[in-house]
Formats: sequence, structure tokens, C-alpha cells
Amino acid sequence: MATQHRPILQVNNLCKDYVTRGFSHNAANIFHALKNVSFEVDHRQTYALVGESGSGKSTTAKIISALEKPTSGTVVFDGDNYTDDSPRQLRRDIRGNIQMVFQDPFSSLNPRKSIAGALLEAMEIQNVGNTKRERLDAAESMLERVGLGSWALNRYPYQFSGGQLQRINIARALVVEPKLLILDESVSALDVSVQAQVLNLLQDLKEEFALSYLFITHDLSVVRFIADRVGVLRKGTLVEEGTVGEVFANPRTDYTRNLLDSIPLPDPSRHQLAG
Ligand SMILES: Nc1ncnc2c1ncn2[C@@H]1O[C@H](COP(=O)(O)OP(=O)(O)O)[C@@H](O)[C@H]1O
Ligand SMILES: [Mg+2]
Repeated sequence: MATQHRPILQVNNLCKDYVTRGFSHNAANIFHALKNVSFEVDHRQTYALVGESGSGKSTTAKIISALEKPTSGTVVFDGDNYTDDSPRQLRRDIRGNIQMVFQDPFSSLNPRKSIAGALLEAMEIQNVGNTKRERLDAAESMLERVGLGSWALNRYPYQFSGGQLQRINIARALVVEPKLLILDESVSALDVSVQAQVLNLLQDLKEEFALSYLFITHDLSVVRFIADRVGVLRKGTLVEEGTVGEVFANPRTDYTRNLLDSIPLPDPSRHQLAG
């Protein structure tokens, strides 16, 4: 059926346990970082995952991007259950389709690699482009698209500001032509005005490249600006989820109400910068 709702990502009953050791020897505890977490990200939509520090957001992101295996549960991309795939299969099927942008713009890039080197390496690993010339052209046009330009190609990370580096990290994620972008607190370290510019850029890129986003943040004012649906994680449990309108208008838990109460008073200029 053409009208059938078709998620790009399905997260089913995800559990993740970590074995932790106390101070006394032999004392091992099991810490349940994720407890039966399920949600779906629809094609060309933004799903925001919110929650306090330590609630399990990054653990969820790492499992979806196949950097970690879940203790149980499955992750399904475009109908393909890749939970138990080998590294070789993952490289071919998932790593190109799901890309991640992290919080710290500096530590995500190798300080000894030029920007061209970083983007070309990402494309080579995913077999994007037939020749070095083609890859350089793609790198240059993506850098232009994120608001930089060919001048950035032969520079090194230390020569850029945090906001510029996050644009470069976004460009590096997009040159491999992914369908889903996971943004794990990707704007949290930026100044508010720079944050607004990068959020606007992300909105434009999503339309232009028909992307879907999993947007992880602890900042609910950002959720209101960018997301279609939102899930609230608390201590490893998804305590509520729905459209942003539903959840913000009728929070079902005190936890979400408290998160909402901590949003600063609406400042219309905040995420509405032109261009
Ligand atoms: N490798 C690990 N070993 C043990 N505990 C971990 C590990 N990774 C994360 N945790 C714990 O799991 C919980 C969730 O972590 P995380 O997913 O990073 O939270 P968030 O991103 O929401 O701040 C935290 O209590 C954290 O200390
Ligand atoms: Mg985190």
C-alpha cells in the first residue's frame, strides 16, 4: 500500500546491561542502562530523544549506529534487522546509511588530518565516488553547502571555531550519502546564536537530501524547534512519547513536566535567525 506508514528505523525492546564493579573486589553488579526501549523514526521526520544526563540517550545512539551490541532487542533499518550483522555486513549496509555527529566538535576530527583528508577518507571507506577528483569535487560542494567553501579543504581542525567544526562534521557525515543522521547533543556545546544557525542549516539539509534525524538533546526548547515526535527517557525507560505537540501540551509524567518547566521563557529570536 502506497499510503502505509513506513519507518526508516525501528528500535524494538532494546535492553542494555553493563557489568560494573564496586570498590570491594569480586563485587560485580549489573546496571540496566536501557530497559525495553521501543520507538520508530519515520522517513524524512525528526525524532527527538530527550532525558537527563545518564538516562541512556548515548547508549541508544551507539547501539543504533552499531558501535555497541544490545543485551537484547533489535534494531531494524528500512526493514533490515542488522542487530546481529558482522562488521563486514555492517560496513556495507549500515555504516553508509546511518551517520552520527557527536557533541564535541574538536575530538571528532583527527587533528593531524586536513579537512579534505577527513572527508575523502569517509568517502573511500564507503566507496562513494569513482575517482579522487570526483570525491574532491563532492567534498568541496558539501563544504560550500554547509556554509564553508573550498578554502577549508587544506586547513586543519585547529584553524576553525567550534561552530565551523560542527559544520565540517555534518559535511563529513553527509558526503557518504546517509539516509539517517544521528545527532547526539551535536549543538549543545555551541553558543546560543551559533546553535540557532546550525539548527537552521540542519533543517535545510534535511529537506534537500531527504534525510531522517534522530536528534538527541537534553534541551526541550531545541526539540520544539526541530522535532516531529519526541521520546522521553528516564533511567533507561522510555516514559512517554508522541508528537511534540501532544507531549508538550499534555505531559503524562512529572518527570517530563519538570523537564518542560526548566525551559527558559520563550525567546522568539532564539531559533528564528533568518537564512
Ligand atoms: N561502558 C559503560 N560501562 C558502564 N556503564 C556505562 C557505560 N556506558 C554508559 N554507562 C552508564 O549508562 C548510563 C547511561 O549512559 P548514557 O547513555 O551515556 O547517558 P546519556 O547519554 O543519556 O547521558 C549512565 O549511568 C552511564 O554511567
Ligand atoms: Mg550522552
